[in-house]
Amino acid sequence: MRLAKRIKNLRPYLFAEITEKIAEKRSKGKDLVSFAIGDPDIATPPHIVERLCQAARDPINHHYPETGGLPQLRQAIAEWYKKRFGVSLDAEKEVLPLIGAKEGVAHIALCFIDPGDIALVPDPAYPVYSKGTEFAGGEPYYMPLTEENNFLPALDTIPPQVLKQAKLLWINYPNNPTGAVADIDFFNRVVEFANQHDLAVCHDGPYTEVTYDGYQPVSFMQAGGAKEIGVEFHSLSKSYNMTGWRIGMVVGNATMIDALKKVKSNLDSGAPQAIQYAAIEALTGPQDCIQEHNAIYQRRRDLMIDTLNNIGLKARAPRAGLYVWAKVPQGYTSMDFANDLLERVGVVVTPGIGYGKNGEGYVRLSVTVPDAALVKGLSRLSGWRDRKNRFKLKK
Ligand SMILES: Cc1ncc(COP(=O)(O)O)c(C=O)c1O
Repeated sequence: MRLAKRIKNLRPYLFAEITEKIAEKRSKGKDLVSFAIGDPDIATPPHIVERLCQAARDPINHHYPETGGLPQLRQAIAEWYKKRFGVSLDAEKEVLPLIGAKEGVAHIALCFIDPGDIALVPDPAYPVYSKGTEFAGGEPYYMPLTEENNFLPALDTIPPQVLKQAKLLWINYPNNPTGAVADIDFFNRVVEFANQHDLAVCHDGPYTEVTYDGYQPVSFMQAGGAKEIGVEFHSLSKSYNMTGWRIGMVVGNATMIDALKKVKSNLDSGAPQAIQYAAIEALTGPQDCIQEHNAIYQRRRDLMIDTLNNIGLKARAPRAGLYVWAKVPQGYTSMDFANDLLERVGVVVTPGIGYGKNGEGYVRLSVTVPDAALVKGLSRLSGWRDRKNRFKLKK
């Protein structure tokens, strides 16, 4: 048996590796609190689960779905965008349901990237942007996201020869892992830049509904001309605690949507219909759950920030998303620090280096940890002492 080079050179997916490490430690009796994964701990709201159960009992939903999804779901997505962002979409041509945003994010590279082509990818970032590019035979060009730039890419610093080969530009706000947000001026600038350099834009926005302190994110689709050059990926995973059901969507440019639909119709058979009905219920039913979940996350975020600052770690309170992006103490790499927390206080965080070179120096903590475990984890973090710098600190 001879595996493909792409598999031989492929590292396991960051979170698969972390989950395995946690399982191994737990199987040896280690009591861990994990802040590593952004998977909402709160159950899917009951009215959504109820609709799913109903739809699952109906034999009409026991068949292959259409790649393009149920027309009623496409319509519900278009109406949700209108209501949420004032964006008008043609439900036939500008909306496509996905088997979770991850699936579409990975597959869209196949629509644009030929061997030798470049995709502009933020660093640090959700790893699927670069992996999708590599699977398609292309190369990511990493755009550093730094604190000095408010974790926005400095588009003007991308070399002209890179721009010549680049076909896709990835952006993601509210951002995972940095917690940064972007305003409409930034999105307008992205549209202008994409037009100048003939780039297709993929904005990944699954966290627009997870917000704090009254913050209202904008959709990339609100930028003037966005629909002419780009799409936005979205998901029901984070907004409605539906990570386990695997349902998301992509909206925007009809040519890009059509190309992705062509790829998907050759590779998958669409999202199960019962889950599509649950998604319709989520998007069109009562929305109180969103505020309720956000209030819980905000309280946790505040506790987390206090604890981190108390032990000398700098972390800004994010205005959106599920993550706190904290600076590691001086003298530690992100991996050193994550290992130190794991071994000495039984707390799991994600090392920033897992999201790219520019993630070095940070760790990511998710607020999707049930209250009791969160309190236990934070109390363990409070007890953490910096052994490397202890002599320096005493001076
Ligand atoms: C930035 C970003 N995009 C996409 C996804 C995937 O979402 P889904 O569950 O819809 O596949 C995630 C999940 O963590 C994410 O953080």
